[in-house]
Amino acid sequence: MTRTVYYTATSLDGFIADEHDSLDWLLSRETDHDGPFGYRAFEQRVGALAMGATTYEWVRAHDPGSWAYTVPAWVFTHRELTAPPGADVRFTRAAVADVHAEMVAAAGGRDVWVVGGGDLAGQFADRGLLDEVVVSIAPVTLGGGAPLLPRRLELARTDHAVNGEFVAVRYDVVRG
Ligand SMILES: NC(=O)c1ccc[n+]([C@@H]2O[C@H](COP(=O)([O-])OP(=O)(O)OC[C@H]3O[C@@H](n4cnc5c(N)ncnc54)[C@H](OP(=O)(O)O)[C@@H]3O)[C@@H](O)[C@H]2O)c1
Repeated sequence: MTRTVYYTATSLDGFIADEHDSLDWLLSRETDHDGPFGYRAFEQRVGALAMGATTYEWVRAHDPGSWAYTVPAWVFTHRELTAPPGADVRFTRAAVADVHAEMVAAAGGRDVWVVGGGDLAGQFADRGLLDEVVVSIAPVTLGGGAPLLPRRLELARTDHAVNGEFVAVRYDVVRG
């Protein structure tokens, strides 16, 4: 059954990017992508993904010649953005619940990945559509930046592991 998962990396003080939208504090870290909670196993679970416009523009700016994802991607924006050639990127400003229903259908039984940012993950949670939060915590505090998940949510830890410099934790979102 499809699960909707916010899978991301965070600083210890709960930021997913610094005040300049930089991920230098993250990408320089030691981690094993094939190890526990690593990206390689996670991406096998994913059948559709969603991200906000800032995240999309970061991805495009840092890898301008290519698009790393093979599954359909929804990018939330109120602007007219352009997709990489050949990529299945769907720009939307539609209601989150409607987009989520489209994503679940497209995922074909695999999971839906909310890439970020934090408020977009919160918008899914606001509608009761977020099942799981998976965070890899980097050993750094940033003091400010883009927040991990700016909502009040009750979570239940279901798993955890160490991978390189990171501690990774999986939580179910507790509803009701
Ligand atoms: N640490 C990690 O692993 C990780 C993961 C993901 C992202 N990041 C980084 O974290 C930062 C996140 O940036 P962010 O907090 O600004 O969030 P974001 O979700 O990437 O982008 C926010 C933008 O998305 C659009 N948007 C959001 N909700 C919408 C809705 N319901 N309908 C239409 N458009 C909507 C708006 O853009 P418009 O102005 O175009 O309308 C909004 O300004 C980025 O720097 C990203 O690179 C880090």
